[in-house]
Amino acid sequence: MTTTLFSPLQLGDLQLPNRIIMSPLTRTRAEPGHVPGALMATHYAQRATAGLIIAEATLVAPGSSAYMNEPGIYSEAQVAGWKRVVDAVHHAGGRIALQAFHPGRASHAAMNDGVQPVSSTDRAIRASDEERAAGKGYDTPRRLTTAEVGQVITQFRHAFENARRAGFDAVEVHGAHGYLLDQFLRDSVNDRDDEYGGSIEKRARLLLAVLDEAIAVFGSGRVGLRISPLVAFNDISDSNPPALLQYLAQEIERRAVAFLDFRHDRHDAPAEEALYDILRLHYRGLVLRNGGYDRDSGSAELARGRADAIIYGKAFIANPDLVERLRKNAPLAQADFSLLYTPGPRGYIDYPALEPTSLDEPALA
Ligand code: PHB
Repeated sequence: MTTTLFSPLQLGDLQLPNRIIMSPLTRTRAEPGHVPGALMATHYAQRATAGLIIAEATLVAPGSSAYMNEPGIYSEAQVAGWKRVVDAVHHAGGRIALQAFHPGRASHAAMNDGVQPVSSTDRAIRASDEERAAGKGYDTPRRLTTAEVGQVITQFRHAFENARRAGFDAVEVHGAHGYLLDQFLRDSVNDRDDEYGGSIEKRARLLLAVLDEAIAVFGSGRVGLRISPLVAFNDISDSNPPALLQYLAQEIERRAVAFLDFRHDRHDAPAEEALYDILRLHYRGLVLRNGGYDRDSGSAELARGRADAIIYGKAFIANPDLVERLRKNAPLAQADFSLLYTPGPRGYIDYPALEPTSLDEPALA
């Protein structure tokens, strides 16, 4: 039988009713102290029919904010806030994973009481032409000492323990998009000569140590990894993506990591497909593909056997009942992108489902 978006999926220890995954989407709606509040609980509960929600990137360490009002998972108040979110999603019948995130050199001292960003390097992100035109620049990071890298691993460990206490069903390690773990992984940024730099094995050491902590806390059946070996966002690249990917695939296979979130941007589709083939040769876990899919292209990828599930991002913003709409082939609502990162309920929890639910906000003041 052909696999479709609506075929159930055993994802490690989790049983998913469909293969439509909600992508982590930064929406900057956390309360002061990077604490998830009632708005976030409503937002995620409205989207609980997703096969799995991967919640927005969540800071594992204080002093590392990159986007303002993104949530964290290092304080007790944050754990309590996330517990409300997780409980709301479970109550609505869903499953939710935490995405553990450290921005590294993408964070800004001005957002962190003057705390300088840290990284694998002491070289700053070079702002794109677009960013320069908008007056956006990046701070010069402080290179982590070898001993401090060990402290980062401990911060991730605490984040996983906190995520478990908050009741998350799974965790995804954010190893993509030029953030801290990727800053160690890819060699245009990692210029270290200690045990965390140089060969592929050394550059991957931090990421794998973090994965091992996630597995120790959650078990490998509830751990996933996001990578983006070809995505240049945040001024990053690698001299040999196939070799890097092959090594990572072998290592996550050894650890029986439940899923890989393979993030791509279709900038170079043939190169992405070649990487996918390498991945499949060495890794028997699930591959969730993520990057610009619609109903038809996502369905086609599953039918061809070139993905185990499809991750949708933008479509979930304005369509809390995306699963139902895809099932019915109903039209999709369009998001108001001017409200993506604004505070408050507008553009966040006021997109209705086709069939009204008890989670629809009756009146937004
Ligand atoms: C990402 O590109 O992965 C990303 C974007 C915004 C965030 C966190 C992560 O706040």
